[in-house]
Amino acid sequence: MTILAIETSCDETSASLVEKKGNRLKLLSNIISSSLPTHAKTGGIIPENAAREQIKFMIPALKEALVSDFDQIAVTVGPGLIGSLLVGVETAKTLSYTFEKQIIPVNHLIGHIYANWLENESIEFPALSLIVSGGHTDLFVIEKHGKTKWIGGTRDDAAGEAFDKIGRLLGLPYPGGPAIEKMGKDIKVDSYNFPRPIIDSKDFDFSFSGLKTAVLREVQGKKLNDEQIQRISFSVQKAVVDVLVAKTLKAAKEFKVKSVLLGGGVTANQMLRDELGKNVKQKLFIPSKSLCTDNAAMIAAAAFYNGKPTTWQKISANPQLSFA
Ligand code: KG4
Ligand code: ZN
Repeated sequence: MTILAIETSCDETSASLVEKKGNRLKLLSNIISSSLPTHAKTGGIIPENAAREQIKFMIPALKEALVSDFDQIAVTVGPGLIGSLLVGVETAKTLSYTFEKQIIPVNHLIGHIYANWLENESIEFPALSLIVSGGHTDLFVIEKHGKTKWIGGTRDDAAGEAFDKIGRLLGLPYPGGPAIEKMGKDIKVDSYNFPRPIIDSKDFDFSFSGLKTAVLREVQGKKLNDEQIQRISFSVQKAVVDVLVAKTLKAAKEFKVKSVLLGGGVTANQMLRDELGKNVKQKLFIPSKSLCTDNAAMIAAAAFYNGKPTTWQKISANPQLSFA
């Protein structure tokens, strides 16, 4: 059984073929075209530019990904940018109609969680999943395939969004996350001790806009030298990582999970990977860095384990798709 998956929810255009043999998923192709160079020029994503680039990349990505025949199609239907989602969803519907194959609609966040099944076949439930990306900071408990419960998320900025906005305040290139990581790599001391918003709250929510404001107050009207930027970069990462780790550990304990799964672009951050690696007591799964950021293979994986195949007439993009 082989699934052709399409992912276009934000700035990537991705197509992938994944085969399931028994309990194992085999990645036959995972083509990812990014419009990041366009967004680096504008210092952030302009949705219409992202969609225009996706229209250019979609067919070439499909041509490259289609290394064999496929049985079903999976596509990200939301959440995401409407123009971007439409490119993938309408392409999937056209393929479904032309080749008479069923489509499986996939929630992008569930896709991030299932990136873990591309590299591990036996993940024990219940599992806790932390998704941290440019658009999301969410904690979920997965009781079994198809039964996922959202337990908390950001009240304002996502962790990646905070990195991107703070990167801009520091005069670093977009996206801010990797740039901040690079700047802070030789610093060992948390000189600025920025706030860790709602780290001790009873819920599993996050809030990162106060951190951005604290950095703004620190840098406003100043001409920062390189060492100051490096020290601020380290302290910002430490503040974000401390909050993400604290809430993850608390949720893992409270929900008595057997596994902790990570996903989303911010999980490429080495400090976060190291701190969770040191502190999580359950079995920790972190996808390879290339499967942490948006890709279609994770959408195929989610479709295999809890997808509901349907016909193209029933599929539509839903930018506000929430977590059911
Ligand atoms: O999952 P992703 O590729 O796209 C979304 O669905 O948003 O995540 C992109 C986000 C950006 O905000 C970027 O700054 C952040 O992930 N990011 C990082 C790192 N690499 C990417 N943040 C911190 N450290 C990194 N190494
Ligand atoms: Zn994503």
